Amino acid sequence: MLEVTSVSAGYGALTVLHDVSLKVGDGEAVALVGANGAGKTTLVRTICGLMRAQGGAIAKNGSDITRLPAHELARHGLAVVLENRRLFGELSVRENLVLAETVGRRVRGAHLRFSWDEVTALFPMVKERLDAPVELLSGGQQQMVAIARALLLQPDLLIMDEPSTGLAPKVVKDILLVIKALRERGMGLLLIEQNVGIASEITDRAYVMALGRIVHEVPAGQWASFLSDERLVKAYLG
Ligand SMILES: Nc1ncnc2c1ncn2[C@@H]1O[C@H](COP(=O)(O)OP(=O)(O)OP(=O)(O)O)[C@@H](O)[C@H]1O
Ligand SMILES: [Mg+2]
Repeated sequence: MLEVTSVSAGYGALTVLHDVSLKVGDGEAVALVGANGAGKTTLVRTICGLMRAQGGAIAKNGSDITRLPAHELARHGLAVVLENRRLFGELSVRENLVLAETVGRRVRGAHLRFSWDEVTALFPMVKERLDAPVELLSGGQQQMVAIARALLLQPDLLIMDEPSTGLAPKVVKDILLVIKALRERGMGLLLIEQNVGIASEITDRAYVMALGRIVHEVPAGQWASFLSDERLVKAYLG
């Protein structure tokens, strides 16, 4: 369980997040949707220790992770695929993955959730391009490497910041299939997504963010009625 309680955060004197609270249960898939600039990425960065929370608390499975540095996250079963993927571009696909695998083995010991073979089987492309420098791959291929790398950190909860943005429809479809397969294995998911069609396809429920606050919740089973309320969708998502 990931629990974000009354978190505020921002950049210097600018507070972007105000009193943000949300939960993701074990094995649950939750979306965070909202217009450009709503504060979604700022929340991801704060959860992951890339930014310091100014107030509030973040807990994972009961452990306080509020001010944990990013490199300690894997120990708590948390992995993130950031908006810009943040791969080591000059290193090969294999080198990027080995770095994550090493950390994953350190935190999980023999009880791996995802072996190297399982992860590369999810992404046949990754397997074929193991020796290519990451910076020579297409955006979609890089996104797959970023997801593979996150899985090798052995998470039980994956946070993904707009994994489909800017990718071709075929690639988006492939990535969605992988996410669905992960869900069937019990992976928890916090999906940041501007495309509510995609979000509704792979998550149980959602939080809507606007101007740094959670302004609406879509409860489990209510995606269809939220999407059919044009006024609401337009008001929150533009
Ligand atoms: N490094 C930064 N320095 C100062 N302000 C920032 C910085 N990054 C983001 N902001 C501001 O914080 C606010 C929230 O930005 P954020 O990137 O969290 O939004 P978002 O919901 O992820 O948007 P998008 O859908 O475009 O990715 C915006 O007003 C943005 O201008
Ligand atoms: Mg963003």
